[in-house]
Amino acid sequence: MKLFAILAAIGLVFCLACGGHDDDDKNNELMAPGQNCLACHGSFRVAGTVFGSATADSGSGLAGITVIITDANQVDTTLTTNAAGNFFTTAPLALPLKKAAVVRNGTRTEMTGPPVGDCNRCHTLPATGGASGRIHLP
Ligand code: HEC
Ligand code: HEC
Repeated sequence: MKLFAILAAIGLVFCLACGGHDDDDKNNELMAPGQNCLACHGSFRVAGTVFGSATADSGSGLAGITVIITDANQVDTTLTTNAAGNFFTTAPLALPLKKAAVVRNGTRTEMTGPPVGDCNRCHTLPATGGASGRIHLP
């Protein structure tokens, strides 16, 4: 009976550890900076991460940066990066996109026509699709 109680206690500790893992900060808007969000999030229309340089460490995403996406109908959607540098939206932007821009203090850096909004597919390390690396500030 004593042994059973000990085993039950051990099981409880493991269960708590397990529950704690599920409830940590891993699966939320701060997750996976620099990774291709749309690979897992089919409901996101546009998502990515902004850094200080093309080769920045994945943990160094920048908060509070303005990202402006211009869709096929020339409608602008303005997003702001969160504490991890991530930005994302499920708004039904019309594809193909016309422009994607990052703005700091009125200085704008942009690209023309990313076909779809999976920004970090190309802007990652190592970069693909001809990108020089991560999306970064001017
Ligand atoms: C390898 C797969 C994967 C990648 C890559 C990924 N996520 Fe997630 N994300 C998940 C899973 C799994 C959950 C938890 C299940 C859920 O709530 O959908 C989650 C949850 C979330 C949530 C909370 C629930 C929701 O759907 O709104 C947000 C917000 C989020 N992720 C944003 C991002 C962002 C932004 C990126 C890219 C920087 C990203 N994720 C990259 C798998 C991923
Ligand atoms: C198919 C690949 C691809 C996708 C997807 C893509 N880009 Fe780009 N992006 C490029 C290339 C190529 C350049 C030009 C070379 C460079 O500067 O990296 C570029 C340049 C940029 C620049 C200017 C310089 C820089 O790197 O900061 C910004 C800003 C930018 N992209 C933002 C975005 C955003 C936001 C998205 C998502 C809506 C996106 N890109 C999706 C390939 C891509």
